[in-house]
Amino acid sequence: MAQKMLVTGGCGFIGSNFVRHILANNDRYEIVNLDTLTYAGNLENLRDVENHPRYTFVKGDICDEDLVNRLLADGADVIVNFAAESHVDRSITDPGVFVRVNVLGTQTLLAAAKEHGVPRFVQISTDEVYGSLGPEGLFTEETPLQPNSPYSAAKAGADLLVRAYHQTYGFPGLITRCSNNYGPYQFPEKLIPLFISNALEDKPLPLYGDGMNVRDWIYVDDHCRGIEAVVEKGRPGEVYNIGGNNELANVTITKEILKQLGKPESLITFVKDRPGHDRRYAIDSTKIQTELGWQPTVSLADGMARTVQWYQDHREWWERIKSGEYMEYYDRHYCQAHGLKE
Ligand code: NAD
Ligand code: DAU
Repeated sequence: MAQKMLVTGGCGFIGSNFVRHILANNDRYEIVNLDTLTYAGNLENLRDVENHPRYTFVKGDICDEDLVNRLLADGADVIVNFAAESHVDRSITDPGVFVRVNVLGTQTLLAAAKEHGVPRFVQISTDEVYGSLGPEGLFTEETPLQPNSPYSAAKAGADLLVRAYHQTYGFPGLITRCSNNYGPYQFPEKLIPLFISNALEDKPLPLYGDGMNVRDWIYVDDHCRGIEAVVEKGRPGEVYNIGGNNELANVTITKEILKQLGKPESLITFVKDRPGHDRRYAIDSTKIQTELGWQPTVSLADGMARTVQWYQDHREWWERIKSGEYMEYYDRHYCQAHGLKE
């Protein structure tokens, strides 16, 4: 019999890629996707699998204790928690919602999972909890947590709760910390999809500061395979870093996007820096590679070519986001098609 996996935040960028990956590659799981559909949650991301026999969507908030308890009363073999507010710039202007969702939402899930004896809980965290690196060195799982934005501070708070549940109650929590993802279905507020879509519209690409901040890019499918490995083989109480070994300065990746699209570098506009802007992230993923046999498989050249092509081929997808029309999909199409009232 298939095991029940509760995925939270499955209508966002990484969650939707993960749901699709599991449905296509791993028939050991049936998936319940709990997502409240914030601005970042888009049911259109999973349109192709919405009627899959091993997939159910539930619209709801991870902070809703009653709902979470009702879902877990039906039993769950594993919870994978993607649900979060995820954009650093938004956390600078509105930190409160980040604490509510990322910290209190995770606490709600942990308490309910403990109550119902869920045997595995995987918290999807981020390398940003480690803070910022100088020109040398890599983040390991032992690097102290030094978050610099309200977003990363709230993610670190959630990580510490997962750790505390393990230490205090023997709760079977595991944590993944991944570097910057890119690929299909990423909301066009993040660097790569924003710059590809702006360039396609001949709009300026706003590069923060001197454009020399460095990120370690990983193709989203590689991240999803890493999470799957942690779900299946990770040791409770452990943290697993996941990274792509692809360090690049923002200005370099921006020029690469323009080159692939045949657009002029004059579209680059240097703008005021992000407050508290982390200078460099870079991940040491030796632990997951040696313990769980995972490795990144998509080179940056290949991943960027696929990604640029995807945004060219799915112009309607990101145009509907930029215009706000995507938010009507749930009311107009999904509820009708599924006999729901809302
Ligand atoms: P996203 O913003 O694209 O998606 C977040 C999803 O969570 C959306 O579908 C949203 O509707 C849902 N959500 C938000 N609040 C909710 C709530 N209260 N209840 C239920 N659902 C809720 O984010 P993403 O980029 O896909 O990131 C997913 C997770 O991975 C996050 O936890 C993030 O911190 C982590 N992460 C992201 C990256 C990255 O590069 N994007 C890297 C490492 C880790
Ligand atoms: O490292 C993992 C993290 O990566 C995740 O935890 C976050 O959820 C995810 O949003 C991402 O955070 P970043 O802040 O690194 O991603 P973002 O795409 O916002 O920015 C990438 C870099 O590009 C960063 O140095 C800021 C810069 N930038 C970003 C935007 C949106 C610009 O120069 N201009 C922009 O308009």
